[in-house]
Amino acid sequence: MATRIAVFAGDGVGPEVTGQAVRVLEALDLPGLELVEGDVGAAAYRKHGHPLPAQTLEISRSVDAILFGAVGDFDCDNLERHLRPEQAILSLRKELGLFANLRPARVFEGLEALTSLRPEVARKIDLLIIRELNGDVYFGEKGIRTLEDGRRQGWDMMSYTEDEVRRIAHTGFRAAMGRGGKLCSVDKANVLETSQLWRDVVIEVSAEYPDVELSHMYVDNAAMQLVKDPGQFDVIVTGNLFGDILSDQASMCVGSIGLLASAALAEGTYGLYEPIHGSAPDIAGQGIANPMATILSAAMLLRHSFGLEDQASRIEAAVAATLAAGIRGGDLGGSAGTREIGDAVVDRL
Ligand code: IPM
Ligand code: MG
Repeated sequence: MATRIAVFAGDGVGPEVTGQAVRVLEALDLPGLELVEGDVGAAAYRKHGHPLPAQTLEISRSVDAILFGAVGDFDCDNLERHLRPEQAILSLRKELGLFANLRPARVFEGLEALTSLRPEVARKIDLLIIRELNGDVYFGEKGIRTLEDGRRQGWDMMSYTEDEVRRIAHTGFRAAMGRGGKLCSVDKANVLETSQLWRDVVIEVSAEYPDVELSHMYVDNAAMQLVKDPGQFDVIVTGNLFGDILSDQASMCVGSIGLLASAALAEGTYGLYEPIHGSAPDIAGQGIANPMATILSAAMLLRHSFGLEDQASRIEAAVAATLAAGIRGGDLGGSAGTREIGDAVVDRL
């Protein structure tokens, strides 16, 4: 069996963290493992004049899954928007139909005291955020225009069509059935029409899942509940913008953004896997970034795109054992470097 995986390392700490995840994948001795590299982000812009060059998109279409590092570079913040590094990941999500973003969050044993919450509150976190990834204000028309009176106005169009909501709602209900049976749909239906349609459609879809306990929560309240009592959540399903914000928040609730993996899935088994953290230019190139989120993303890749549940669990157990042994990056108050953490995980596979 061929296991063709693209590795798009990107910017900042991206190459360092994907480097360790690749070592972990290689250490598993998967039959027919084939890794193909491609340029994305500011690195690609410098080399090819575009954050997502045509050849990178071509590679994406020739593989079964993508392991992605991070994109973003302060030097590029003044480029026209379509040339900024972030466009690489946004375009990949759209072009490849990666509509379902799975962002699991749970506290590793022994790290309870390192989260931003009280240990007894943090200990109960075991949730999955499912974020819609192809629509919302992210992909609506946008612009900066000058009004008749000369004032500039920035504007972004927020919208969801019912089929977009239905498809991600199904993902949410199915995930809930495979976990604790609870789905919380997060919106802002008290203010936004986009959210009213979202809520109506989620309720319609719920008729097909009588065994799932569905609830609805406004996003402001959800932000509060995630800190107050995160243990109440099993699966959260929400739109692109709210999911972006809530998943960063969830990462702090479990200790570090350096531990959160994610999967962006299309229909079927194709997926892109990335740490939820960014390129962290402030620590790039120093060998101190925590590669665990990317290593855990590689585990999600094996599970979702290749059905290799055993290998995925092996990686997750090795990461847990590394943490339990007190080997921690600076993000967790430790002093282990990127390579050292990679070594420790490989040793424990
Ligand atoms: C994320 C990131 C991206 C997003 C950025 C880099 C465009 O924050 O994956 O959460 O906003 O989706
Ligand atoms: Mg984000």
